[in-house]
Amino acid sequence: MNDTEPQTAEGKVLWHFTMSLDGFVAGPDHAMDWMSTGISARPGLEDEYVRTTGAVLGGRSGWDVSGDSRPYGSDWKGPIFVLTHHPEDATPADDVTFLNCGPAEAVRIGLEAAGGKNLEVFSPTIGRQLLELGLIDEIDLHIAPILLGDGIRLYDVPGSAPILLHRVGEDDPTSVVNVRYHPTRPANASPLSARASG
Ligand SMILES: NC(=O)c1ccc[n+]([C@@H]2O[C@H](COP(=O)([O-])OP(=O)(O)OC[C@H]3O[C@@H](n4cnc5c(N)ncnc54)[C@H](OP(=O)(O)O)[C@@H]3O)[C@@H](O)[C@H]2O)c1
Repeated sequence: MNDTEPQTAEGKVLWHFTMSLDGFVAGPDHAMDWMSTGISARPGLEDEYVRTTGAVLGGRSGWDVSGDSRPYGSDWKGPIFVLTHHPEDATPADDVTFLNCGPAEAVRIGLEAAGGKNLEVFSPTIGRQLLELGLIDEIDLHIAPILLGDGIRLYDVPGSAPILLHRVGEDDPTSVVNVRYHPTRPANASPLSARASG
């Protein structure tokens, strides 16, 4: 299987998500239940990020719907920064700092707190702002075998000019990734062989 090398801690700014094949990182109304249905990760993947993540930067919407749940469960300990224009009405939580500042300043604060490990950006809206500022080092995605059709896109910028990306760790960084999937069939669908003979 063609997969990425394990993540490394190098003081990078990672825009890091599990994403549906059609480009959504959350379903409608921030739904995340799709991530726990019929999707598996390579062994040890979560540990890679527990080891390499020094701090997390997110947005207020994601924080408000997460209900104080921490990234990577209770295995990861570290500072979380949440950008909001109105920190005064945020519910305080351990290791969480609400910031009302520009995205570049938020990255500076986050990287300093990360102490040489990576700063993970868990927000499509903030990631987009950082991309425009040239402050994203890597877009690190786990593409889940699912189509959501609706929700919050990784990159939702109508009218945007195309942004070319280079694949990390490839001889040809411009190469496409080839993938093939079978849709799982509804229980009442006829099997392929029956359709072929009928
Ligand atoms: N699939 C995955 O791996 C994964 C991982 C993590 C999170 N997620 C999901 O990602 C979604 C995040 O949603 P989202 O991107 O729509 O919202 P978001 O980025 O979490 O929150 C947007 C809010 O952040 C604040 N904000 C953004 N930029 C700001 C700036 N420059 N200055 C001050 N405040 C700023 C604003 O809050 P105010 O309105 O308070 O000003 C804005 O309304 C959530 O559903 C979350 O569950 C998915």
